[in-house]
Amino acid sequence: MKTIVLFFSHNGSNKYLAEKIAKDLDCPIEEIIPRPNSHLLMLMGINFGNKALKAKLEDYERVILCGPIFMGKFIIPLKNFVQSNLDKIKTLVFVTCCGSTFEKKDEKFGYNLVFNEVRNILGQKCVHCEAFPITLVLPDELKNDGKTFMKTHLTDENFKGEIQVIYDDFIEKMKVELAIN
Ligand SMILES: Cc1cc2nc3c(=O)[nH]c(=O)nc-3n(C[C@H](O)[C@H](O)[C@H](O)COP(=O)(O)O)c2cc1C
Repeated sequence: MKTIVLFFSHNGSNKYLAEKIAKDLDCPIEEIIPRPNSHLLMLMGINFGNKALKAKLEDYERVILCGPIFMGKFIIPLKNFVQSNLDKIKTLVFVTCCGSTFEKKDEKFGYNLVFNEVRNILGQKCVHCEAFPITLVLPDELKNDGKTFMKTHLTDENFKGEIQVIYDDFIEKMKVELAIN
């Protein structure tokens, strides 16, 4: 199954994750760049589309879309990408390195609401969603410390332990799907 990884990242964690996935699946990767490329406007949900991608989506059977969750939203650059390429996307996997924990996934700022939105837009084309909460790389005593987790980003140094186990499972799943199709 021909796969491409597309990502948006403001502070680098989703870039890190996307690059890792692309390397492990040995597939191309490209950044989604919003117009205008302003974090404030993005948080306000203002966007005039994204810069055109170099990749031809028609050439891929699977898009792995990787990006953060801000304010409980499926953020506008990712949403724009999905909505404007609905006809070209064959299957999509949504992956996020986010702030919300597994325990809080169903709350207002939890990732499950965003996963549901992605599934609503894409229907059966959305074949999998996976969250990598940044708290996985923090010690237990700091997991609920908002200031610390906002300042924490994925790196080679902290990508170990629980997050590595979840990641290895995810990659295995992606490789199996790759092999089946
Ligand atoms: C302004 C702001 C709002 C955020 N809102 C949420 C949220 O609603 N839910 C969540 O899970 N994480 C939230 N986060 C955490 C980010 O999703 C997390 O830091 C993510 O790893 C950032 O990705 P990046 O480094 O690729 O930009 C928020 C972070 C910021 C700075």
